[in-house]
Amino acid sequence: MSTWSPSSWRNKPILQQPTYPDQTALNNVLAELKHYPPLVFAGEARSLKAQLANVANGEAFLLQGGDCAESFSEFHADNIRDSFKAMMQMAVVMTYAGGLPVVKVGRMAGQFAKPRSSNTETLGDVTLDSYRGDIINGSEFTPEARVPDPERMIRAYNQASATQNLLRAFASGGLADLHKVHQWTQDFAHQGEQTKKYEALAEEIGKSLQFMEACGVTSKTYRTLRETDFYTSHEALLLPYEEAFTRKDSISGDWYDTSAHMLWIGDRTRQLDGAHVEYLRGVKNPIGVKAGPSMDPEELIQLCQALNPENEAGRLNVIVRMGAGKVGDGLPALIKAVEREGMKVVWSCDPMHGNTIKSSNNYKTRPVDNILTEMKEFFQVHKAEGTHAGGVHLEMTGKNVTECIGGSFTVTEEDLSSRYHTHCDPRLNADQSLELAFLIADSLKEAQK
Ligand code: PEP
Ligand code: CO
Repeated sequence: MSTWSPSSWRNKPILQQPTYPDQTALNNVLAELKHYPPLVFAGEARSLKAQLANVANGEAFLLQGGDCAESFSEFHADNIRDSFKAMMQMAVVMTYAGGLPVVKVGRMAGQFAKPRSSNTETLGDVTLDSYRGDIINGSEFTPEARVPDPERMIRAYNQASATQNLLRAFASGGLADLHKVHQWTQDFAHQGEQTKKYEALAEEIGKSLQFMEACGVTSKTYRTLRETDFYTSHEALLLPYEEAFTRKDSISGDWYDTSAHMLWIGDRTRQLDGAHVEYLRGVKNPIGVKAGPSMDPEELIQLCQALNPENEAGRLNVIVRMGAGKVGDGLPALIKAVEREGMKVVWSCDPMHGNTIKSSNNYKTRPVDNILTEMKEFFQVHKAEGTHAGGVHLEMTGKNVTECIGGSFTVTEEDLSSRYHTHCDPRLNADQSLELAFLIADSLKEAQK
């Protein structure tokens, strides 16, 4: 393979990029970003990789979740707090009821750029360039908003930086203390069936903590009872931005993408000879690659070789997103190929992106039943292959949104219009996320039998 550099992706074919009208303005912004402080440290990315190695070895479970797209208009401390709490709830359910430690990674603090299925969007007789995420252009349906503006990268960085700061405070400043397990329930959710189930589990945890305290194990003495590790991730789609945050670690001498702990390649940009694979092969962060129904087993092997040539456990996460009813068709061959080659990967399931439909009243939505079904199928296939169903990748929020239909707190098609706030794809709300967490906990227990 040819020599890698932070900019070697520029010599490869690239998809899903904006065309900036003013190259000088773009270059000025990139030059400025190159001087900005990193959002994460290389040592933290290495710690995440070590935790993901436990996942690859079947000893932990990965929970990756957050917005489809973060936005400038939804930037608010309450939103960050509520997503954090929803992930803590899910993690505690999986750990306590499922029996495995949970590695927590937010689709947060930098998840701004979106691949699109079409370059243009038409409403009536007007056709405009597609919205590509707030880091690139505006979602308003006007010609002005859709012009890519490099200054948006600076605003996205500032927002990511404030979000990262708050997440660090939540993770180590008290909100993640296991004694707060009752306070992770969202205000709106108390009457829901899932929340009742959760509160019963939280009671049990409370009793266990009391017992441990009597034995001298308290949150004063054990950091893991009062703090958690919470990592960040996003799709490494807008490569000029990622390049600007690619820095050489002074300790190891290796290159890291310091815009997030973990980066992934989307299903639309994972071409073996393309720019996105070229960029991510050279940074040492843990990385992911999405695998949709079109992923061929041999192609996956080649991607593993390109992205994880040293076959390091915890380096590569294959995020499978087949769609309900299709996991049994696509996944076994992928697992067999990876096992045959002795490759170490973390397998996780994205039950969102293969299950997007249009409701009869024209909303982009996802039926919770299909999300739960895909997750179950993922566990079944791994059980049959004797491999570890290692994680889940979700679009979710702690807010009481009505974007996915179904769930125990039933959201109907008619409800979609009431609180549909996403800037891109429909997300699970806190109650729907909790329902999925209980299903995962049961499946993890079943897998250990
Ligand atoms: C996403 O994760 O938001 C996404 C676009 O996924 P995929 O690349 O799997 O389509
Ligand atoms: Co999405």
